[in-house]
Amino acid sequence: MTNTTSKQRILSGMRPTGRLQLGNYVGALHKWVELQDEYECFFMLADWHALTSNYADPGDLRGNMRACLLDWLAAGIDPSKCAIFVQSLVKEHAELALLLGMFTPLGWLERCPTYKDQIVQLANKEVETHGFLGYPVLQAADILIYRAHAVPVGEDQLPHLEITREIARRVNFMHGGPIEPVTNEPQNPIFPEPQPILSQVPRLLGLDGRKMSKSFDNAIYLGDSAADVERKIKPMVTDPARVRRTDPGNPEKCPAFEYHKLFSDAATVAQVDAECRTAAIGCVDCKKKLAANLNTLLEPMRERRARFEGDPGALTDILAAGTDRAAAEARKTMEIVRERLSLVENPAQVVAGGAAAE
Ligand code: TRP
Ligand code: SF4
Repeated sequence: MTNTTSKQRILSGMRPTGRLQLGNYVGALHKWVELQDEYECFFMLADWHALTSNYADPGDLRGNMRACLLDWLAAGIDPSKCAIFVQSLVKEHAELALLLGMFTPLGWLERCPTYKDQIVQLANKEVETHGFLGYPVLQAADILIYRAHAVPVGEDQLPHLEITREIARRVNFMHGGPIEPVTNEPQNPIFPEPQPILSQVPRLLGLDGRKMSKSFDNAIYLGDSAADVERKIKPMVTDPARVRRTDPGNPEKCPAFEYHKLFSDAATVAQVDAECRTAAIGCVDCKKKLAANLNTLLEPMRERRARFEGDPGALTDILAAGTDRAAAEARKTMEIVRERLSLVENPAQVVAGGAAAE
C-alpha cells in the first residue's frame, strides 16, 4: 500500500444503507476510481453515520457494509492503492468528533440545510437528537483526522464540507502556531482546509423518470445480472409522444436518452439523437442498445465481484489492512491535537505538570 508519498490526500465515505446502483456509480464511485492513482486515498464505510438516523433499528448494518464493500471493489476501487476501512473501527474519529464539537457553535449545525431538510424528510424517525444534529461534526472529524486535502463528494454534501472547513479554520486559528523547529509561517495549521472535488454528473433519474429510489424499485444495481438489466430496461419510459413505431420522437423528453448520454459512446448518442427524431430507430431497438452498453460497463464489475465474493478471507484482509493504515494516520493526528489542547498521552504527563513536561 502506498505510504511514502507526496501525493495529496483524499478521504471520502458512504453510509452503508444497501446495494449501490448506477446513480451511486456515476455520482461518486466512478470518480473515486478515477482519483485513486492521483491521490493517496482513504475510503470509509460510515457505519456511525448510518446509525445517526437508524439507531432504533440498525437493520442489517453488517450485511449492508459487506454489500457496499463488494460494490466498491467490483467498481474498481483497488485495495492495493487505497485504504478501505470501517469508520467505527478507528475509534479516534469519535475522540476527534468530541473535541471538534467543543469548537462548533450550535448555530452552524442548526442552520445546516441538510439538517433542516432531514428533520422534515425523516419525520417518522426521532432525529432531533444530539447525534443527528452533530452529524456534520462527525463528518468533519472523518476528514480532518486524515488531514485530507480534498474530498470527492456529491453536491448534497457541500454544506457538510463547508462546516468542516469552518471548524478547521477555527481550530487552526485558536491552536495553530509555530511548532519546533520554528518555521517562517506565522500560523502552522493543524488541519488543511479540505476542498471538495465535485462530480459534474447530473443526478441520474430512475428507470421510470422519477427520482431514483429504493422504494420506487426503479434502479439498476451494480450487482444486477445481464438478464436483470435487459428486463429492467425493456419497459423503461420513453418519449410519450412516440405511440407508434413510426412516430418521430424527441430524445430530450426521454429518460432512456439520458442514460445513453451517460453510458453510450458519443457516436451512438449522436446516432440515437438523429434517428429518434426521424423515427429511423424504434424505442425497442434503442433500448436494446442501451442495455447492451450498460452490460459492457457492468460485466467487468461482475467478474471482480465474483472473485471477491468467493474469497471472504481476502475481504477481511482488505478491511484489516485498510483499518490499520487509517488508524496509524488517525493516531498521528490525535497526538498533535492532544498536544495542542494540553491533553495528555499518559498519566506521567499529568503528574509532571505543565512546564516540567515541556
Ligand atoms: N455524509 C456522507 C453521505 O451521506 C457520508 C460521509 C460520512 C462522508 N463521512 C464522510 C463523505 C466524510 C465524505 C467525507 O454520503
Ligand atoms: Fe427514447 Fe430512444 Fe425511443 Fe427516442 S428512440 S424516444 S431516445 S428510447
